Order: sequence, then structure tokens, then C-alpha cells
Amino acid sequence: PEVMALVGGALAEGRAGAARIAEPGGGRVQEVQVRPLAGGGAVVLIDDVSAAVEAERMRRDFIANVGHELRSPLTAIAGFIETLEGPAREDAAARARFLGLMAREAERMRRLIDDLLALADIERQQARPPTGRADLGAVVERALAALAPQAEAAGVRLERRGPDRLEVTGDADQLEQVVRNLVENAIKYGGSGGRVEVGLAPRPAGAGLAVPAAALTVRDFGPGIDPVHLPRLTERFYRADPHRSRAAGGTGLGLAIVKHILTRHRGRLVIRSEPGQGASFVALVPLAPEAPEPARS
Ligand SMILES: Nc1ncnc2c1ncn2[C@@H]1O[C@H](COP(=O)(O)OP(=O)(O)OP(=O)(O)O)[C@@H](O)[C@H]1O
Ligand SMILES: [Mg+2]
Repeated sequence: PEVMALVGGALAEGRAGAARIAEPGGGRVQEVQVRPLAGGGAVVLIDDVSAAVEAERMRRDFIANVGHELRSPLTAIAGFIETLEGPAREDAAARARFLGLMAREAERMRRLIDDLLALADIERQQARPPTGRADLGAVVERALAALAPQAEAAGVRLERRGPDRLEVTGDADQLEQVVRNLVENAIKYGGSGGRVEVGLAPRPAGAGLAVPAAALTVRDFGPGIDPVHLPRLTERFYRADPHRSRAAGGTGLGLAIVKHILTRHRGRLVIRSEPGQGASFVALVPLAPEAPEPARS
């Protein structure tokens, strides 16, 4: 009806007009422009601006989230300072305890800022995919060694599957971040299953990716993830269980970083999970070409 009114105005009175029309329930958003033509009649331009509107929403949400996430530890620290200046002034035991809590909150802020900066870095590199070769087997080895203490503390056995070596086109440091984030999540959220499988396998071009890829699978046997969360899991700050994630010291940025790194590698992340069945995260990274390219001078 809005469009008809615009067209009517253009035809009857030679008036130009524009409107933005949103489908109810967060559907598509279209911009409609109507311009009268000199010799009678009118042109109607319909532009789907859904993506731009969605990007704008995510940008607003992101800023609000960053503000909120930074404010909570800061509020806690300010509160402890007040207590230390007042009631707990002469109380050595309370002082030690509060300082410990303050250190933890400061550490949380530091981690959040580190993750935000890492994300910004990867985003800046998005147009330049990595060109070097990386051995994903060695990357997995390093990541598992780094997480061994955490796994042991959580009573989780880390089991490795697949070849020792598998060469991909990629940046070893960023790929190690991918493995670490996925395995850390599996330990933190799926640790009750007692073991985490980390598998590596070549996969022909097909369903997921247009080129042959290395599939890195991190599988846990914990409570799994409700399917309603799956589409949004890689969004910044999205948590299936905010309470649990915060208590575990999470920033909610881990999977967003994973996704950005894989996107830069022209790879993909596939998440499969059913409640009660554990979760499996598959990172697909393009395999390196068979023979190393001859060095150019
Ligand atoms: N293996 C898993 N099993 C169950 N839930 C998971 C699993 N991996 C991730 N999740 C859910 O996905 C959410 C997002 O994970 P993500 O790694 O992005 O953030 P985080 O772990 O909360 O924080 P960070 O990784 O920055 O420490 C988690 O909060 C958790 O609810
Ligand atoms: Mg995480």
C-alpha cells in the first residue's frame, strides 16, 4: 500500500518519493524510490538493504556489548577500592582477599581487550589470505601441549586422531589459535564427557568447500548445545549459557575469532551438536598444493 501511494503521487502530481519497508518479524528490509518521468509514468527502484540494516544492528550491539563487558569488571574493582579505603582498611586478611579479587577482574579486562585487538587485527587482514604453508599436525601438537595442564585439571583426556602431518595454506600462529579455542571450549563446556577427540583428516572438495581441505575435528562428549543457539554461536559475545561462560572467565569472543581466522583462510567452520550428544566443531582449511611452488627470484 505504501508503494502504491508513492506511485500514485508520482503519476498524479509528479512527486518523487521514497520509503523503507520492513517485513514484519525481522525479515527483509527494502528501500523503495519512486521518480516521475518527464513524459508521464514513473520509475520504481527497489533495493534490498537487509544486509546493511543487519550490519548496522550488529555494529550497535557490538558497541553496547563491549561497553557492558568492560564496565562489569571495572565496577567490581571500584567497589573493592572503596571497601579497602573504608571498612577493610585495617583488616589484613580482607585486604589480601580483595586484592586477589581485583587482580582477577583486571585480568578479565586484559583478556577482553586482547581478544578485541586480536579480532580487529584479523579483520584488517581479511582481504589478504595467508600464502605460506603450515603443518596442521604440528599446530595441533603445540596446541594440545599448551592445554594439557588445563585438561588434566578438568579431568579430561585429550585424544589425538589422524596423520601427524597435514600441510595447509595458512598462518601457523592463527591456526593454533583456532585449535586452542576449540579445544579449550570442549574442555570447559564438554569436560563432563571425560574426553575430547581432536582429529585431522584430508577431505576432497565438495559440500563444505570448493577446494580439497584439511578437516580438523574437535569433538566432546559433554551436554552438547541446543540447536537454537547454533546459528549465532560465532557472533561476538554470544553465549549459550552466559552465566557459565562468565564464571569460567570467558569473554564470548573465542568462536568469533575462530570464524574470522577461518574466513581469512578461505575455510569454514561447521558445528554439529545435539543436546546430550556432545558437540563437534569442524574447521576446514584449504590444503597446501601438492608440490611446494618453485621459489621465485
Ligand atoms: N563444546 C561446547 N559445548 C557446549 N557449549 C559450547 C561449546 N563450545 C562453545 N559453547 C558455547 O558457545 C559459547 C561461545 O563460545 P566462545 O568460545 O565464543 O566464548 P567463551 O568460551 O564464552 O569465551 P572465550 O572463548 O572468549 O573464553 C560459549 O559461551 C558456550 O556457551
Ligand atoms: Mg571459548
